Amino acid sequence: MDLEELESLRKQAKERIEKINNEREWIDTKAYYLGKKGIIPSLLSKLPKLTQEEKKIYGQSVNTLKVFIEELLEQQLKTIKEREIEKKLSQTTIDITLPGKFEIRSGTVHPISQVIDEIIDIFTGMGFEVAEGPELESDYYNFEALNIPEEHPAREMQDTFYISDGFLLRTHTSPVQIRVMEKREPPLHVICPGKVYRRDSDITHSPMFHQVEGFVVDRDIHFGHLKGVLTEFLRRLYGENIGVRFRPSYFPFTEPSAEVDIQCVVCNGKGCRVCKNSGWLEVLGCGMIHPYLFSVVGYDKEIYSGFAFGLGVERLTMLKYAIDDIRLFYENNLSFLEQF
Ligand code: PHE
Repeated sequence: MDLEELESLRKQAKERIEKINNEREWIDTKAYYLGKKGIIPSLLSKLPKLTQEEKKIYGQSVNTLKVFIEELLEQQLKTIKEREIEKKLSQTTIDITLPGKFEIRSGTVHPISQVIDEIIDIFTGMGFEVAEGPELESDYYNFEALNIPEEHPAREMQDTFYISDGFLLRTHTSPVQIRVMEKREPPLHVICPGKVYRRDSDITHSPMFHQVEGFVVDRDIHFGHLKGVLTEFLRRLYGENIGVRFRPSYFPFTEPSAEVDIQCVVCNGKGCRVCKNSGWLEVLGCGMIHPYLFSVVGYDKEIYSGFAFGLGVERLTMLKYAIDDIRLFYENNLSFLEQF
């Protein structure tokens, strides 16, 4: 066995190993060269028959060949495995841009939230800002500060959920008037949307519903401002041609007070079941802020005046979309909600 032979063996091995393309072949090839009865061990088995000098050169050369083959095999194994991964990846490609088999439902904004957003848009467009107050309210803010003392009959008008001594679920958003005025100085143009609670439940009443409070305090504010702002608001919500009228009414925290009606949206004022044949529908309460409230928050009633209003969002929404049962808003029935 001469060194030339080793060299041709080296070339052969390189060619053969680089052609391997699966693990089975790789194992066979490894056995062919390095296995117990493989080429390398058989070359080494000839060593004892050689002279000391030959042993050294020949032994070293075989060893170099052995290391060469081992490294080549390792390298090839890596290549095979990489190729396999590539192959698997290319076979299992998924096109994530393909449309799915199932319809993916996306939610819509709840009709109550839509109308609140619309109301906010209209008023912020007129220069109002938005404020909020707590739903768990004290007797003081919900009643006392609004000129509704302990024995006042107006407390009976609003069936209150009492929580504990002195605390309740607010029955209207009017307490936010006090909370804002207490902290700030006029001029104020504020609306306060939010949830309110009353012990009441039928097809037009829900124990929880939404109101939007609004108020303006500045010098020289008069009833004309109130009429102008609310008429404009209702026209934007229900259309240019909606009929609007103001009727005298009573609230302890406004003086004078009024209720506002719009022409019946169902019969256009002719008279029907919805408007109880009157042709009109009440949509909000309002009035000039009672001077008592100014004394509570420390405003000078000789300098400032203001108006306030409160509207029920569910009622406005029911009228806008001809919905006859308030409970539909809270049942999460998709065939109802998807119409909005
Ligand atoms: N808070 C009154 C209610 O809930 C509505 C209202 C607000 C009336 C502001 C006048 C002024 O019925």
